[in-house]
Amino acid sequence: MRDRVVIKWGGGLITDKAALKTPRIDVLDLLAEQLERCLDNEMDVVLVHGAGSFGHLKAKQYRLAEGRVNAQEIKGELTQDEAVEEVRQDMLDLNEHVMNALTKRDISAVTLPPHQWARNTGPHFNGDLSLFQDAPPGIVLVTYGDVVECDGDSEFGILSGDDLVVRLAVELPRVKRLVFAMGGVDGVLAEPPQPGREQHLLTTLEREQVFRGDHASEIDVTGGIGLKVERGFLVLAHGVEVILVCGEAQERVADACLGHSVRGTRLVA
Ligand code: IPE
Repeated sequence: MRDRVVIKWGGGLITDKAALKTPRIDVLDLLAEQLERCLDNEMDVVLVHGAGSFGHLKAKQYRLAEGRVNAQEIKGELTQDEAVEEVRQDMLDLNEHVMNALTKRDISAVTLPPHQWARNTGPHFNGDLSLFQDAPPGIVLVTYGDVVECDGDSEFGILSGDDLVVRLAVELPRVKRLVFAMGGVDGVLAEPPQPGREQHLLTTLEREQVFRGDHASEIDVTGGIGLKVERGFLVLAHGVEVILVCGEAQERVADACLGHSVRGTRLVA
């Protein structure tokens, strides 16, 4: 039986976060190559990707993470309902770039957009994972952070890829590890990166350890590295390894997925 790895490609890694709807094709190609290495090594992959500049900017402007708010409070040309539709479409567009990168390497992959199968937000969102579970060996199941319907007054909200990975890693059988591939950092740093200052990488991280997450609150509606670490510890508690690595460095993502020692941060119980 092949083992599984759940990989999150961060939105800040696969898109240029400062420029609206700009994918980083060279990074996607590198990541696809490493994903292929996993498959070639008998490791099945569930891939979750983030939004970056395809999701956060518009979601923030139209306050989609807060759910339905008074129409008068929304500043912009669109209604919230129109913004929900546009962000969903933008995410489908980003997903197409992801799928293109996989297809270029002849990787067979199927996307399951969360707005079609998931409800509610956070790590206990509702949604049937059986389609992921039943994937034949070697077929990559792909999903991503999205705008989903929610119960109650909020009506809709943002389901982060960092929440999706929790249920996928915990509930699917044979998941060995969860790997967060990130842009611009080697893992969890002791303090936010500063120009000209050497990065102090925490190669292991315990729950109790104090760290200051670098959360770009003006553009990121779901929570930065702090959320990844928090969600990572939920997964670790179920006996699944959790590693955070730089997704721009040759081979690190594949090495982490295959259980080789790698520069990055490993969560420890
Ligand atoms: C956010 O998903 C989804 C939207 C804003 C529509 P993520 O939380 O997984 O995205 P990144 O990785 O931070 O970009």
